[in-house]
Order: sequence, then structure tokens, then C-alpha cells
Amino acid sequence: MQTLFTRDQICARVKELGNEITNTYSPFTNEITAVCVLKGAIHFFSDLVLEINMDVLYSFVQVSSYAGTGSTERVRVKSWLDESIYGKHILVVEDIVDTGITLNYILGYFSKYKPATLKVATLFEKKAHRKVDVPVDFVGFEIGDQFIVGYGFDYDQKKRNLPFVGVENA
Ligand code: IMP
Ligand code: MG
Repeated sequence: MQTLFTRDQICARVKELGNEITNTYSPFTNEITAVCVLKGAIHFFSDLVLEINMDVLYSFVQVSSYAGTGSTERVRVKSWLDESIYGKHILVVEDIVDTGITLNYILGYFSKYKPATLKVATLFEKKAHRKVDVPVDFVGFEIGDQFIVGYGFDYDQKKRNLPFVGVENA
């Protein structure tokens, strides 16, 4: 296992993102709803909200994208919002935007319920595999075409609890 980002590097960047988010919203609101996309975003979400200097309401959804038997990739919803997002300032907190399919699905669905604003923070972005052009407002790090584990990221549901982001040595 090779370390790509240490916990300290991640936390330093998350602090910057928190400031950026605070500065973006504070001219027009002092309350946002942060929606954690489970399971991968759990650690990013919990570290990020602590760095946002305004009221942050918490919400959680669980989705997974999977390749079906055909070539189409579909998004499976495992649990969804428990409160209305109408008229609220919604910040979707994602672990990584890869093809963009998962995020595109979430944004499409959320926008039907007319939030006041809808923005996205993601810890990582992989541009090499993008299939759907989705708007991302706050990005932690751009990474190349590599499969990461740790700090929430799994390989077959394992390794999420590594306290750093790593890549398996080839
Ligand atoms: P997308 O719909 O292709 O953007 O899928 C994004 C989802 O795939 C993320 O929310 C992750 O759960 C998963 N994913 C993408 N890249 C990685 C990776 O490098 N490591 C672990 N999970 C990943
Ligand atoms: Mg995920």
C-alpha cells in the first residue's frame, strides 16, 4: 500500500474547503443543509462540517452505482432524505466524482424538490473517466486514473477505516 494523502494533508485541505464554503454562503445565508452521500463520504463529511462556520443541518442518503448485466450503469438508492429540501441551501458532500453518474442522478432528483441552492463538495475528482458533465463547486484534490482506498474509500467494503488515502501497489 502506497500513501497518496496522509490524514494531515487531507485535514489541511478540508479546512481550506470549509473556509471556501463559509465564504461562498455567508453573503446570503447563515444556514445550510449538508447531505452526506454514504458510505464513502462519511469521514470527509464529518471533518468538513466542523470547518464550516455557520449552522449546518445534517442529512444522509445512501446510494451505490453498479454495472448491471448490460453495459448501462445504474444507480441504486438504499436510503433517501428524511426531510424536505424545498427552499433550503443544499450542499451535497460526495467522496469522489468518477464517471459522474452517481452525482448526476442525485442532483437530478434533488433539483425536482426545488432547493434554494444546490451545490456540491467532493473530496476527490477523477477526470479521466467522466461520462456525465456534472457541476462540482468545491473540489479537494484532483487525482489520476488510480483506485484509492482508505478514509472512507473501500475495496469490496473493506479498508474504509484506513486513516489515510492509499493506492494498492501494482
Ligand atoms: P461515479 O458514479 O462513477 O462518479 O461513481 C462514484 C462512486 O464510485 C464513488 O462514490 C465511489 O463510491 C466509487 N469510486 C470511484 N472511484 C473510486 C476509487 O478510486 N476508490 C473507491 N471507490 C471509488
Ligand atoms: Mg460512493
